[in-house]
Amino acid sequence: MVSKNKNPEKDGVSRRSFLQGAGAAAAAAGVARIPETVIAGQNGVATPEVLGPEAESILLKVNGADKKASAPPSTTLLDFLRNDVGVTGPKRVCDRGSCGACTVLLDGQVVDSCSMLAIDAVGKEITTVEGIGTPDNLSRLQKAFIEKDALQCGFCTPGMVVSCTALLEENPKPSRNQIREGLSGNLCRCGTYQNIIEAVEHVSRKGG
Ligand code: FES
Ligand code: FES
Repeated sequence: MVSKNKNPEKDGVSRRSFLQGAGAAAAAAGVARIPETVIAGQNGVATPEVLGPEAESILLKVNGADKKASAPPSTTLLDFLRNDVGVTGPKRVCDRGSCGACTVLLDGQVVDSCSMLAIDAVGKEITTVEGIGTPDNLSRLQKAFIEKDALQCGFCTPGMVVSCTALLEENPKPSRNQIREGLSGNLCRCGTYQNIIEAVEHVSRKGG
């Protein structure tokens, strides 16, 4: 079962670990690069290389394509995608890791892109709703969303589609409770949960 709530620790990226780290990061003028770039300081004591606050060149692999932009290292993955490289499928709603509207896949695992830094996604495969299907070539799940009327305002839909896709890839025959659990990190303020569940079940009946 893939769930942001249930399977969050892969590759050290999770809502909780980000939030724990965010407080310390916010207190610093810059952002410390992750451990592989720790360098030896005076007396041989390892000190983290500090990036920022100036912009850095950041190269990410998004939906199979290289996306490069200059951005401060404190830029979240969501901001980088939407503002710097024009990938607008992930939506900003709560901007604090509680609604799932910004859900993307990071090496196949669901993450809230508002709750991690873009620089922490360097070297990983990022998949947004745009990488799951296009208007001319919708995925089976996207078609099922349309057939089952699984959206109203549509604001939660990109994140829902990403989470449901990950769920079905990991478990092509989920029970209703497993679907509910898999979507527990995604909120729909319009309340279309029943239709979303039916869309997932529809795809599941056809083989995932
Ligand atoms: S906008 Fe990221 S979880 Fe709500
Ligand atoms: S369809 Fe409106 S928030 Fe889900």
